[in-house]
Amino acid sequence: MQQLTIGIIGSGAMGAGIAQVVATAGHPVRLLDQNASALEKATASIAASLRKLADKGKLTPEAADAAVARLHPTTALADFADCGLVIEAIVEDLAVKQQVFKEVEAVVPAGCWLASNTSSLSITAIAAACQRPERFVGIHFFNPAPLMQLVEVIPAVQTRAGLAEEVRALVASWGKRPVLAQDTPGFIVNRVARPFYGEAIRILEEGLADAATIDWALTELGGFRMGPFALMDFIGHDVNYRVTESVFTAFFYDPRYRPSFTQKRLFEAGYYGRKTGRGFYDYAPGAVLPAPTKDAQLGTAILHRVLAMLINEAAEALYLRVAAAADLELAMTTGVNYPKGLLTWADELGPAQVLATLDGLYHEYHDDRYRASPLLRRLARDHQFFLAHEPAHARS
Ligand code: NAI
Repeated sequence: MQQLTIGIIGSGAMGAGIAQVVATAGHPVRLLDQNASALEKATASIAASLRKLADKGKLTPEAADAAVARLHPTTALADFADCGLVIEAIVEDLAVKQQVFKEVEAVVPAGCWLASNTSSLSITAIAAACQRPERFVGIHFFNPAPLMQLVEVIPAVQTRAGLAEEVRALVASWGKRPVLAQDTPGFIVNRVARPFYGEAIRILEEGLADAATIDWALTELGGFRMGPFALMDFIGHDVNYRVTESVFTAFFYDPRYRPSFTQKRLFEAGYYGRKTGRGFYDYAPGAVLPAPTKDAQLGTAILHRVLAMLINEAAEALYLRVAAAADLELAMTTGVNYPKGLLTWADELGPAQVLATLDGLYHEYHDDRYRASPLLRRLARDHQFFLAHEPAHARS
């Protein structure tokens, strides 16, 4: 079968990763960047990582060679004339993206699907610049694209009925786990995960526990792979703070997403975390990481506070039909490697207990940040669960 030719615009971290995914899946790829040296670097790094996969036995040497041969780097948009899908992964700037799609539409066939990998912009707003916005969709990969299974597929308001499902099937054919998300800020993962960082910082700011203790509670008692402070230092406060601020702004300043001064100051100081040698923790050579206070009662209280906030986000996303329950579970377990889906977790704890934690916080702070989702309240009242199956503790 003749495979769709895919054009990728932008050969940075994401564009190169996406090009590797689709070339490995058998698609002829046109990889475009305005910067010839970035393009050269990307082509070399894709070839090197395919070779490494072949060395590890994850790919036959022939398959790796064939993927490299399918890749055509270019700086000329005219080479996109035979594309059936174009995925854009350039600078995160609405005006620049809109301009690029105007130029793309002048070159590609009328039936070519158009997609953006944006993390924070409205898919609808990018589509609005197109002559045929009904063929536009968001395809949001996670970094590094070849390793991360999750891909969020986001129809714009203008997207024709059925296209998102067709794109979802195509993405699944690349061996990925696609989920459907509404075009709302942060889509699924970057929205629902916000309290993992924000509530942990609030607990720190209030002096209830230090960073090491909060990280210990979330990893040792909660089963998260990394604690929030270690993770923010790993992601970098330049990236993580900016995402937090942009989600907050995009949600019309909803207090649930309010950024913290603590992180803003780290960002302003250039204390980005591991990459600069200092963030919440000190990574200078010889520096000793602080030891947590392993107090099970305190740790459990911290865990339940952060968890209640995360579960509330998932409940609200389900309530507002941002995504289906199964997609919410898949997104958080594969996009950010949570030990279990948040709705599953809610059912295990019991919606009434989660609600009691939130209402306790709301009562204490009188801050809308802690308002419970109407769905969580309804389930707690009616003794129901998020997922159809019985929670594990009810079966045992
Ligand atoms: P990057 O800065 O690594 O790469 C961007 C590339 O686009 C550069 O090589 C640049 O030369 C090129 N470029 C910029 N403007 C261009 C234009 N007008 N025409 C052609 N090429 C152009 O950026 P990165 O991290 O790969 O991000 C790209 C997009 O993917 C952004 O929209 C970002 O929000 C999104 N994204 C990023 C993730 C990440 O973790 N880095 C994760 C998921 C999405």
